[in-house]
Amino acid sequence: MCGIIGIASNKSVSMNIINSLKKLEYRGYDSAGIATLTNNTINEKKCSGRVEELEKILFKNPSEGNVGIGHVRWATHGIPNTLNAHPHSSEKVSVVHNGIIENSDELKKTLEEKGFKFKSETDTEVITLLVTESLKKSDPLESVFKTLKKLKGSFALGIIFKNHTDIIIGARRGSPLAVGYSKEENYLGSDSYALKSMTNKISYLDDGEICVLSKSEISFFDANQNKINKKIHIVSDDENTADKGDYKNFMSKEIFEQPNTAKKCVSEYIDSLKKDINIYNFPITPGEIEKIILIGCGTAYHSCLVAKYWFEELTSIEVEIDIASEFRYRNLKFSTKNLYIFVSQSGETADTAAALEICKKNKVKTCSVVNVVESTIARNSDWVLPIHAGPEIGVASTKAFLGQLIVLYILCLKLSSVRNDIDKKSYNINIENLKKLPDAIAKTLKSEGDIQIMAQEFLKARGSMFLGRGSSFPIALEGALKLKELSYLHAEGYPAGEMKHGPLALIEEGLPVIVIAPKDKYFEKTLSNTQEVIARGGKIFFITDIKKRLLSTNIRLRLRVPHLDNFLSPILLTIPLQLLAYHVALLKSCDIDKPRNLAKSVTVE
Ligand code: M6R
Repeated sequence: MCGIIGIASNKSVSMNIINSLKKLEYRGYDSAGIATLTNNTINEKKCSGRVEELEKILFKNPSEGNVGIGHVRWATHGIPNTLNAHPHSSEKVSVVHNGIIENSDELKKTLEEKGFKFKSETDTEVITLLVTESLKKSDPLESVFKTLKKLKGSFALGIIFKNHTDIIIGARRGSPLAVGYSKEENYLGSDSYALKSMTNKISYLDDGEICVLSKSEISFFDANQNKINKKIHIVSDDENTADKGDYKNFMSKEIFEQPNTAKKCVSEYIDSLKKDINIYNFPITPGEIEKIILIGCGTAYHSCLVAKYWFEELTSIEVEIDIASEFRYRNLKFSTKNLYIFVSQSGETADTAAALEICKKNKVKTCSVVNVVESTIARNSDWVLPIHAGPEIGVASTKAFLGQLIVLYILCLKLSSVRNDIDKKSYNINIENLKKLPDAIAKTLKSEGDIQIMAQEFLKARGSMFLGRGSSFPIALEGALKLKELSYLHAEGYPAGEMKHGPLALIEEGLPVIVIAPKDKYFEKTLSNTQEVIARGGKIFFITDIKKRLLSTNIRLRLRVPHLDNFLSPILLTIPLQLLAYHVALLKSCDIDKPRNLAKSVTVE
């Protein structure tokens, strides 16, 4: 996580660095800092808390300089305070770092033995002091190369030098890093999003690569110090418009954008004239795919879990799912007949990217379902299926989850059709229902009033439970995750049928229990599980798509979402749960877009 920005220009850079850091706050927001170079001096300013605080400091005491670096931090080594905030500077260099240096303790010990003093508790400061030490005998580039050889772990770095006031050196191993080109200045950034407001010409560093940028030139080197050329990507501007508009925060905007997200995504993949799905160029002949393995983290993992039910129901393909941080360390048997699908909003999640890398090493075919098409995961996979959701800024994923579900469902339908697992009539009906999805989402959003009432009931709760069966089980997990991350209220998601195997012990008088029960093959079973909870005092909130009023007594609130078909139910049932988490958090005055301890893009392991 953490965000890096660097600018080399022919004018003062501090305000542009601050503006870019504001865009990068989704990557980390517990402290911020900046260092610029003027008259052979490193001006370092940093603070705990948000970029706004840093901006106030600069307002009172401006930092001049045409070359500078900035950072927003998500703490790994050392608490989030001013001392541990980046940049970390010596008298000669200043460094911003994303990632983790795994051998920092060892390196620190050696440096201390040589007389170097550390000011912070971070792993990053070893980089500052190693470069400082190397500079005694080498030039900046050589010093960075020498330092990198000593580091174990992952990093993206931005480094400036007191005696070389025109350059910034960037380096990447494991954590993403991009450079941007402009007429009179050049940029370094931990992702293209922060650079997009300044340029649409971007190159991405690969692992092991180093770049040296000045206001007029950018040079690239591979790990063996050979000069290399990099491809320049022109990034799309339509993804450059992340703005809250009239909404209180990004999350509410992103929740209410979902009818459009669905419309855009469906129209990108459905050919209305041919009544077919526009997905071609499969990396494996569809009929030859033996198994699909879906991999993701957090909310993206939940979308894999929902997709498993779809693939099992609609295709003859075997399906497995895995959490990326588990997948990457398992002793797996890879097969070229399997398709490995990586799901990630950001496309930069470290565990997912590492799991993809392992697949590449094993020479198996990979597909990514991503929102950010310029991301590492998209660039490294054989086949990319974008979700077309536009920038998602709120840390809690909402519209991207919806986009992931739609794309995975569309992929599943297409595979079932080309493998002849589904008859033409059902295929056409499913496509027609998909086209109705945006309107059904818009109708579902109208339940907000009921959900506001429901949210009140969570304020005094000591915890909560979300229950579902079949594809509603991952939706229960997602609902619980949303409530946890936004409102800091404990929430458990469970398959309803598991309750009597332990979790029923948690039910006590008044505990809020959200039951997700569409009219599917599990419905009657879920009703029985609900009765078991009612009998023990649980306060039931029943979310369904059936019209008939069932269980009218003992249910605190019954909320109905529209019904299109059983495959699309999980998508519609998610919306009230997003709104619930949002309203509980709002009532508790939590920071909706930037929940405590979290970051949008988890680029460290
Ligand atoms: O960018 P990714 O989709 O790879 O991110 C994966 C998770 O970190 C992410 O979904 C996380 O769980 C969200 N904060 C949940 O709202």
